[in-house]
Amino acid sequence: MSTFWSLYISVLTLGTLAALAWLLFSTRKGQPDEPGEEPLEHSFDGIQEYDNPLPRWWFLLFIATLLFALGYLALYPGLGNFKGWLPGYAYLDEGTQRQFANGQQGWSAVHEWEKEMAAAQTRVGPIFARLASLPIETAAQDPQALEIGARLFASNCALCHGSDAKGGLGYPNLTDSDWRWGGTPEAIKASIYDGRHAVMPAWGAIIGDQGVADVSAYVSQTLLKRSLPSDTNADASRGANHYATLCVACHGAEGKGNALLGAPDLTNPTAYLYGTRYGQLQDSIRLGRQGVMPAQAQLQGDDRVHVLAAYVYSLSRQEAKPPAKGD
Ligand code: HEC
Ligand code: HEC
Repeated sequence: MSTFWSLYISVLTLGTLAALAWLLFSTRKGQPDEPGEEPLEHSFDGIQEYDNPLPRWWFLLFIATLLFALGYLALYPGLGNFKGWLPGYAYLDEGTQRQFANGQQGWSAVHEWEKEMAAAQTRVGPIFARLASLPIETAAQDPQALEIGARLFASNCALCHGSDAKGGLGYPNLTDSDWRWGGTPEAIKASIYDGRHAVMPAWGAIIGDQGVADVSAYVSQTLLKRSLPSDTNADASRGANHYATLCVACHGAEGKGNALLGAPDLTNPTAYLYGTRYGQLQDSIRLGRQGVMPAQAQLQGDDRVHVLAAYVYSLSRQEAKPPAKGD
């Protein structure tokens, strides 16, 4: 804050307090000390009033609030750039003299929050340190890891993957054994830590509507073993040519996909995120798809991601059932 605004705020704040004090004392003057017997001369619709002094308790209460305000302004930041005298807010951690993130001293809501986070870290730090030192497979059997993982999942992942982690249109089911980016503990952790960005190119402009219809027919008939709607003139064998030139690089000759690219297995209906109906296939192929899993590294840090990976890993294993919901 510039000096001008700092002074502006200080003068305005202290000026208001002074004005209130003046009002209080100036109106008190000239009043009788004892309650009067005679009503004042004016009357409003027959209602009259006495000229009595303020009740003593009320007057003292007013003084007390003024003193409180001054005390508050001395301790906490309220007067422009003045930080307040409150002790204990010079360092985030008195012991190690660690500075606050903004390097400034004095009380502020942000500092308060930083202190709480630091205190929480000393409390839960050792718990996470223990869980982070376990291999993911082992942590996936650890009741404490699963309990914490379930809570982290509910607040950070359920939004997209669903509270039961079963996903939905566009969001993968994390409880089955179909993995676009790999289902090993390392691959799952990498998916969460760095995020994933799938790129399925749009083919509409390249092969035209007929091309899209044909290659969709190939995917539906040959890879998914489904029959085509009767009213289409699409031809799966023409589609096979498109597939061999345009799609094999990512989805593989057999259509089994490629975990390095996040290209799904097109022969497995439960591996699809965007639907397997003939129309949905055409949409995916015509317009392309860009599934994004947001990276959690910055948000959660390594230890929490480790626990989340263990939790997700446990979801798809029968042996290590996660605690039932509501536990
Ligand atoms: C550059 C690699 C690449 C090429 C080439 C490619 N795909 Fe894909 N495809 C992907 C990726 C990655 C996804 C997953 C997109 C996502 O998760 O958002 C995908 C998704 C799909 C889907 C949707 C699956 C679902 O989850 O619902 C279909 C259908 C599909 N591809 C068919 C094709 C066909 C047909 C071709 C050839 C015309 C093709 N792809 C070419 C990478 C590719
Ligand atoms: C904004 C929505 C969103 C949030 C939040 C989100 N995800 Fe995802 N996640 C996705 C999408 C979309 C994909 C699929 C990306 C693709 O198309 O390949 C995905 C993919 C994944 C995968 C890889 C699945 C596979 O088949 O390989 C894992 C593991 C995963 N998410 C775990 C998590 C965890 C754990 C969290 C919470 C920390 C989380 N996600 C939060 C949207 C989200």
